[in-house]
Amino acid sequence: MKNNIKLRNIGNSDLRVSPVGLGCWQFSRGKGVIGNYWGSLDEPEIKEIIKTSILGGINWFDTAEAYGWGASEQTLAKILVELNTSPKDVITATKWMPVFRTAGSLMKTIHKRLEALKPFPIDLYQIHQPYSLSSISAQMEQLAQLMDQGKIRYAGVSNFSAKSMRIAHKELKKHGYSLVANQVKYHLLYRNIEKNDILETARELGITIIAFSPLAQGILSGKYHRNPELLNKISRMRKYIGGFKIKELEKSKAIIDLLQKLSEKYQATPAQMALNWLIHIAGDSVVAIPGAELYESVQRGVVDAFQYSTPATDHSIAMYEVVDYIYLSPVRQSTDFHYYTINRDAFNELPDDLKRMVKELCFMRIFK
Ligand SMILES: NC(=O)c1ccc[n+]([C@@H]2O[C@H](COP(=O)([O-])OP(=O)(O)OC[C@H]3O[C@@H](n4cnc5c(N)ncnc54)[C@H](OP(=O)(O)O)[C@@H]3O)[C@@H](O)[C@H]2O)c1
Repeated sequence: MKNNIKLRNIGNSDLRVSPVGLGCWQFSRGKGVIGNYWGSLDEPEIKEIIKTSILGGINWFDTAEAYGWGASEQTLAKILVELNTSPKDVITATKWMPVFRTAGSLMKTIHKRLEALKPFPIDLYQIHQPYSLSSISAQMEQLAQLMDQGKIRYAGVSNFSAKSMRIAHKELKKHGYSLVANQVKYHLLYRNIEKNDILETARELGITIIAFSPLAQGILSGKYHRNPELLNKISRMRKYIGGFKIKELEKSKAIIDLLQKLSEKYQATPAQMALNWLIHIAGDSVVAIPGAELYESVQRGVVDAFQYSTPATDHSIAMYEVVDYIYLSPVRQSTDFHYYTINRDAFNELPDDLKRMVKELCFMRIFK
């Protein structure tokens, strides 16, 4: 394993993770509706992904009950064992699916999660969605009991709003615990958490944001813009939900072109640029969990991940600042993606070297 990667704590826990972890939804083995979103990978392919991830310095894995109803957890654990990985070497996060269930199911089903991940512990147990038949308070009470009993180590949530996250944190505090993470969608083309208080609240409370779909489900790699025939290979569900429709790809073209240009300049890949931006945009508050599917993208994805995990160099900081200015600028509040406009005042405030970079890299209209 690479040992030059600066690890980060998840919230106030002692879980020390690489800034990039591996998302394991893709290991659902084609089981269940949610699992069918991706193609079904076989064990040797999954083994290759996990092995390369570990060798590259990734030290944690995010899975869920709903990813093939245990199939992802079981496959992850089995392969980690086959790779002679000890539970002390990696961190495993999983999730409980609350939909149509009451909080009591957290306690009733925990043995299944532990069995599926055996011999790996549940380092982080997350409530997958904010939709349960029980209150947040009741769910947090159950998570606290699971921590009291040593069945899970830390508690997190996923897809929670700023308000719900605050309530969950407060409820856990009553039992002497803290909420350590909120796992939400966050990537260059979807920056809602910067506008809806989630990021700000997480930073205030010391809760880590775990960014899911950090590559916009593959769009930020640029390969679907470069080679639209690849769209025929992805599932209908992914095409429909994931922003792969031609009209949506047209909207994201400007940012993909920019990533491409930046990646040529810095000898990286667009995916690398996108992840690098994500794990540095809010200090240590955001970590990312890209998933990997096809063998070619596995290689590229994981090799990229080594590099995002290294501390940002000055020029990489400049790069994401530039992307940030171009993308965000004054249209932060807009629901449209006007990321190729930049406000004249914002531009004038940039230091000279960034101004030069914007001009140099910006093949698009600079001023709004
Ligand atoms: N909590 C939640 O509600 C929630 C929701 C979604 C995801 N998640 C978690 O987040 C993880 C990641 O999210 P995600 O899988 O939705 O999206 P993602 O990580 O943005 O995209 C993953 C896909 O992008 C492509 N890709 C990855 N690296 C690449 C590279 N270097 N070059 C080119 N293509 C590359 C691969 O697909 P192709 O090769 O087919 O293009 C891969 O399957 C999941 O595995 C899961 O653990 C959680």
